Amino acid sequence: PDDDLAATPPMGWNSWNTFGCDINEQLIRETADALVSSGMRDAGYRYVNIDDCWAEPERDASGRLQPHHERFPGGIAAIADYVHERGMKLGIYTSAGTRTCADTMPGALGHEETDATTFAEWGVDYLKYDNCNNQGVPATERYTTMGEALRATGRPIVYSVCEWGENAPWEWAPGVGAHLWRTTDDIRPVWETGNTNDFPMGVVDIIDFNRDLARYAGPGDWNDPDMLEVGVHDVDGYPGLTDDEARAHFGMWAMMASPLIAGNDVRSMPDEVRDILTNPEVIAIDQDSLGAQGTPIRDDGDQEIWLKPLANGDKALALFNRSNTPATITTTTSEIGAPGPATLRNLWTRTETTTTADITADVPAHAAVLLRATPH
Ligand code: DGJ
Repeated sequence: PDDDLAATPPMGWNSWNTFGCDINEQLIRETADALVSSGMRDAGYRYVNIDDCWAEPERDASGRLQPHHERFPGGIAAIADYVHERGMKLGIYTSAGTRTCADTMPGALGHEETDATTFAEWGVDYLKYDNCNNQGVPATERYTTMGEALRATGRPIVYSVCEWGENAPWEWAPGVGAHLWRTTDDIRPVWETGNTNDFPMGVVDIIDFNRDLARYAGPGDWNDPDMLEVGVHDVDGYPGLTDDEARAHFGMWAMMASPLIAGNDVRSMPDEVRDILTNPEVIAIDQDSLGAQGTPIRDDGDQEIWLKPLANGDKALALFNRSNTPATITTTTSEIGAPGPATLRNLWTRTETTTTADITADVPAHAAVLLRATPH
């Protein structure tokens, strides 16, 4: 849309992937503190997003949503203040339906103006708008109504359409004021499930779906391949990603210019997890001002080469190995569109080599080597 709220893909944290409905105001405050003390805020994570289950099951007598009396006794406005005082922004959630997905609270269908006004009064900066219990009302109608209601508040609010790619939102979401739109069903902390676009999806399944939508992404308008599973474990029987898988997940999300919304418990994250989430050079690929979504330039089945052009003329490359065995992946500066010598910087080891033409790397199973190529 026609504003500068999401010139680069939004970055932040969301409660859903680790905590589901088990959320309360203490958790949100502690998370905000941990985002600051861990360096995540300063690495770019600015939105602290409360997902489903923050409200009472019913509206109050005047038809307004009520923060859950036991779990959010201080109200949402107080949390917004807390987050703002720490240099971050607050996100909230509801559904474009009669109830939210977890069915614990009312949705906004038919109450869009009231709810948008309430959110703006509370100081909310971001709305994730889900798709459950939508009563068969066409998606474009439901998401247009909320987009207009948000705009009418006069408060800058990032608008995240969470319609799971059911009605090709990449075609209409920018027109209803959305800054990002989910392209797939829900992610889980697993490498691959084999599902094309049905829950539960793994990292690879989502990449395979999101890759064809590159042309719809650009400054202000982003494909959203769902939130990060880096450091998330023990969900729905999935133990979680290995370190290689987590780096590949994060790196490929950066290559796809995806919103980077962490989903782990940042209050207790191990250093390895923090180092992945805060890697400044990988984040710079995601946040590059050109805003191009990277695409595969070669697909050899189990191995792929991805390219993302960058604003300064450099090229970000991913040598992506989806398979269960290590592989040597090779390309050339000609194949990436920059024939001749180049400097290659490995964004995970943060070491540099120079090449006259060949680019090659040994890539572990379920991993991606990320390179930044600077032509000479
Ligand atoms: C479905 C969404 O896709 C998820 O990200 C999450 O918001 C849940 N609903 C919450 O119920």
